Amino acid sequence: MPTLANKVAIVTGASTGIGYAAAKLFAREGAAVVVAARRQKELDDLVDLINTEGGKALALVGDVGEEAFAKALVDKAVSHFGALDIAFNNAAILGAMGPVPEMSLTDWNQVIANNLTSAFLGAKYQLPAMAARKGGSLIFTSTFVGYTAGMPGMPGMAAYAASKAGLIGLTQVLASEHGPQNIRVNALLPGGTDTPAGREFASTPEAVAFVHNLHALKRMATPDEIAQSALYLASDASSFTTGSAMLVDGGVSINRV
Ligand SMILES: NC(=O)c1ccc[n+]([C@@H]2O[C@H](COP(=O)([O-])OP(=O)(O)OC[C@H]3O[C@@H](n4cnc5c(N)ncnc54)[C@H](OP(=O)(O)O)[C@@H]3O)[C@@H](O)[C@H]2O)c1
Repeated sequence: MPTLANKVAIVTGASTGIGYAAAKLFAREGAAVVVAARRQKELDDLVDLINTEGGKALALVGDVGEEAFAKALVDKAVSHFGALDIAFNNAAILGAMGPVPEMSLTDWNQVIANNLTSAFLGAKYQLPAMAARKGGSLIFTSTFVGYTAGMPGMPGMAAYAASKAGLIGLTQVLASEHGPQNIRVNALLPGGTDTPAGREFASTPEAVAFVHNLHALKRMATPDEIAQSALYLASDASSFTTGSAMLVDGGVSINRV
């Protein structure tokens, strides 16, 4: 029996990178998936791929920072696939990087809205749908940046780090408040991952070497490796795991170079 048989999942940030890999994996493991991002063609291609492989998927294009879109995603999962069991709230941007004294309030607010307020909006509509199902798994993609490392050598990530650390606080409170409803809430903290965002961050050979060297494993993750950890948190394999900030970071957090 596939790990996610008879489950219904939302995956945001599914047009590329970690979300794309996770949506494919969840579908291969039996889940019906509603995939979300702002780019239509990438999502349509993903849905075609999943359907060709015999899976079930549909795409919804929109901005996770908008409340109407957060609601529409849940409505779509319930009306089309009958329920919601899993929400992988993964969409995010790095935003304009730069030292805080030079950062505009507009740039700060854009990152917080895109990465943190979107998580609140997602949870707001996902939790009641999961409660109706008598349980579920909610996952936020956070990061080690701002949690175990301040990223010396690559400064300028204050807004990104604050948005992602905020997700860990949100995770803990939601896990505590919704545990009695059998809803598990966890944050997944990847290390450097070879995605478009990862390549934007490490955009020169020197930066790539620097990022690889931060990790005990001396490389970045593949999106598929992080997707496997999302699958663990989504599935009953992690049935006693809630409120965690789960590091899947290739040893960045324990490595001292
Ligand atoms: N790559 C890394 O090294 C790394 C490390 C730690 C944590 N993370 C986290 O992992 C997650 C995935 O990152 P990634 O590396 O896979 O990034 P990515 O390749 O840039 O993908 C980001 C995804 O989020 C979507 N997205 C961004 N803003 C959105 C919005 N407002 N509304 C809807 N969709 C939106 C993008 O799609 P559209 O552009 O089509 O909207 C895209 O599908 C993020 O939360 C990131 O912070 C990444």
